[in-house]
Amino acid sequence: MTTPVAIRFEELDLDRIAQAEGRVVVLVGAEAKLDPAARRVNKLTRGALLRAVESAGFADLKAGQALEMGFPANMAATAVQVIKLDRKADALSVRKAGATIAGAKDGKPLLVLAGAHPRAADLSFGLALRTYAFTDHKSEAAPVEGGVSVMVTRPEAVAAAARDMAARAEGVFFTRDLINAPANILTTDDFAARLAAMQEIGLDVEILEEPELEKLGMRTLLAVGQGSESPSKVVVSRWNGGAEGEPPLALVGKGVVFDTGGISIKPAGGMEEMTADMGGAGVVAGVMRTLALRKARANVVGLVGLVENMPDGKAIRPGDVITSMKGDTVEVINTDAEGRLVLADVLWYAQQRFEPRGVIDLATLTGAVIIGLGHARAGVFANDDALAGAFLKAAEAEGEGAWRMPLDPAYDKQLKSQIADMKNVGGRPAGSITAAQFLQRFIKDGTPWVHLDIAGVARTPEATAFAPKGASGWGVLALDRLVQDMLED
Ligand code: BES
Ligand code: MN
Ligand code: ZN
Repeated sequence: MTTPVAIRFEELDLDRIAQAEGRVVVLVGAEAKLDPAARRVNKLTRGALLRAVESAGFADLKAGQALEMGFPANMAATAVQVIKLDRKADALSVRKAGATIAGAKDGKPLLVLAGAHPRAADLSFGLALRTYAFTDHKSEAAPVEGGVSVMVTRPEAVAAAARDMAARAEGVFFTRDLINAPANILTTDDFAARLAAMQEIGLDVEILEEPELEKLGMRTLLAVGQGSESPSKVVVSRWNGGAEGEPPLALVGKGVVFDTGGISIKPAGGMEEMTADMGGAGVVAGVMRTLALRKARANVVGLVGLVENMPDGKAIRPGDVITSMKGDTVEVINTDAEGRLVLADVLWYAQQRFEPRGVIDLATLTGAVIIGLGHARAGVFANDDALAGAFLKAAEAEGEGAWRMPLDPAYDKQLKSQIADMKNVGGRPAGSITAAQFLQRFIKDGTPWVHLDIAGVARTPEATAFAPKGASGWGVLALDRLVQDMLED
């Protein structure tokens, strides 16, 4: 897996600045006052730094942006990067500044002179998140990443603050690797094996195979996978760091490792993006990894439905009627509306078995949510204002875009079937909402539930502040924070 760059926190040692190779980063606030490290750089460069920060160019920079001084005199470094960053900047702005450092890093060693900045840990977190690159399938060896040293006045304290952030960065990278992986590599078997490997970090992982799913009656999930050579699976991973017997929070993820659309086959253009149709399951996996790595004091269960949606002689057809684990029957009008069929059974199973205190599902469920919200925010649907509010607050704090959308029985008539309890599509109007209404039929009264339609955010066509183009890892940080806010004391 892609591991976040290792960051050393070291005692501020002014005498090492001149010899540092690669890039040296200094932080200067808007008032252009130099801290001791910056003063040393200024002295070495005979006042060049001061001239830079007193220039109009520096004044024009926004917080977190940088100015570059190439081949500074009397220093071994190839460049000094001057980041405009106040001591009072909030956590997200500081992380963005860290991402700016990463953006210019270019594989070279880095010395970041963070001095007494109160958010030096966040700076290194943003830096770590933005150094991600998916190179698993590049035949040329990835350039050896130069090390990162952050010099601070209190290295132990900063390293302690950075420890949980390292767990979070690793969860995000795990999710991105899963989402970026092609479908001939990340099969249902491979995905399950990557989850099972997390037993090494203390998660309890259980893989339910087809005969077991058959016995449980998960026919809508199995129906989606029946045209594929890869076996369908449900994987349950548990982190029990909370009080014994306390009901868990359940996270449920759509894990369609590839979505051709099935017999209702998708057009060829862009179909390769459906390697990311396991995005919901990928986020669940990343959150579970983070919780285990940071030993969260909370009970959380992650459930993912892993299937592949293929056209085949054995595949489901439009018009087929399937009975879900709950017992409700579904007329499959369009085999490309498969995510809801997978989730219906996993949601029901999660509630039956774990009686969770709340359920949050994540799915790359509809193209319609991209029409509505684009790639900046995920659609949030909920039957519970408190849980929805807590999630939105956590997402906001982590800079992960989210927007509440309605649930309303008024949309239910679009799901009416002539011959079964419901059909699996509601037509073009309000496509994301009818999908959510479908899911809600598999949520018990009284179970607080949030559905996150992440089709637009799981994978983005452009780089975001913290990720290159491709998998973003959206949701890992928000959900980890939600667990912290809601379940940990
Ligand atoms: N996996 C897709 C949704 C999707 C689209 C995710 C684009 C990411 C990017 C989902 O299974 C799907 O095909 N949904 C259909 C539903 C329709 C047939 C009711 C859609 O959105 O077109
Ligand atoms: Mn589909
Ligand atoms: Zn899909």
